[in-house]
Amino acid sequence: MTAPPPVYLDNNATTACDPEVVAAMLPFFTEQFGNASSMHAFGAKVGAALRDARKSLQALLGAAHDHEIIYTSGGTESDNAALLSALETQGGRDEIITSTVEHPAILSLCDWLEKSRGVTMHRIGVDSLGRLDLEAYRRALSPRTAIVSFMWANNETGTLFPVELLAELAHEAGALFHTDAVQAVGKIPINLASSPIDMLSLSGHKLHGPKGIGALYVKKGVRFRSLIRGGHQERGRRGGTENAPAIIGLGKAAELALAHMGEERTRVMALRDRLEKGILQRVGNCFVTGDVRERLPNTANIAFECIEGEGILLLLNKEGVAASSGSACTSGSLEPSHVLRAMNVPYTAAHGAIRFSFSRDNTDADVDRVLDVLPPIIERLRALSPFWRGAGQEPAAFNPTFA
Ligand SMILES: Cc1ncc(COP(=O)(O)O)c(C=O)c1O
Repeated sequence: MTAPPPVYLDNNATTACDPEVVAAMLPFFTEQFGNASSMHAFGAKVGAALRDARKSLQALLGAAHDHEIIYTSGGTESDNAALLSALETQGGRDEIITSTVEHPAILSLCDWLEKSRGVTMHRIGVDSLGRLDLEAYRRALSPRTAIVSFMWANNETGTLFPVELLAELAHEAGALFHTDAVQAVGKIPINLASSPIDMLSLSGHKLHGPKGIGALYVKKGVRFRSLIRGGHQERGRRGGTENAPAIIGLGKAAELALAHMGEERTRVMALRDRLEKGILQRVGNCFVTGDVRERLPNTANIAFECIEGEGILLLLNKEGVAASSGSACTSGSLEPSHVLRAMNVPYTAAHGAIRFSFSRDNTDADVDRVLDVLPPIIERLRALSPFWRGAGQEPAAFNPTFA
């Protein structure tokens, strides 16, 4: 018997590069190898292609001007560039507001800024659905706030923050507003021209583009200091010869995302919802985490009580199904994800949380396959669990609160 085809449901980690993206990139590794800055035909051709790519990304973002886009090496660099720039341009303001559920690209930068530069950090918490504590945010804003950085969509649960409202509040305090929109771009409509967002980070590999390319949007009129100083590329805002194949690939990915968004959003959401409903019907003692009303269309995060996510992933992987858990293996002990901890998801469930994240490449057959293989996996693992006391029962004893 031939093995069923593999099922990839880890698209928030990375997506497959679209074949059209690869095709668009290939000539820029071979015959179109010129440096866009060169004063000859080889350079001019590449320069023209880069300008077209920038227009495609501008259209996806609904940005007013193409020069509001600065290419970077990805989401992490864009996040770093935004926060570090604000600390330099915001005239003596030395505080940053962010949330407890950001990606490490923001959180570890903030930890470092706090420890080594003495920047005061305000990390705003969330409720049990992952919604931001608006009152705590209002209280943290002050004339000392340089920049506020809240993610648009959470990478683990898909929960959306109301970034436009949050940006308006930041402006009332004279602060800049940045959003890490790495998980939002290409999945939900965005119109930056009519939004108060000052800066936005995105990453190519989350929207069927290549890895190692991203962009930082900086609204016209917002002062910006380069993170990477060098040549005059990107209007002097990011030095280094442009990664032409990757930029052109990101442009193609943006064009495809915009073209597919309407219909694919609905189709992907229906797949996600069918998977979620099917799991909740077939498996007891599990629940969806995050804000189901304000969520990305492609993400389902389900917490299974009394078992470890890593066990589930291992057995799913044996069946050819790829998903992910938010846990990080630190110092020998498996810590549940910082996002689920911030949401106060009970310990015995947070450990068993699995994220299924879809893309336009997924089909109904993928959902059917997971619904076939997952219930027996959960049953098998629970039979081995010291915490499992039977369907509908509270988990046994050990249920510490998080430190
Ligand atoms: C919300 C978020 N921000 C930032 C990043 C980092 O992006 P990159 O891999 O392009 O550096 C990721 C990647 O997982 C992400 O999900």
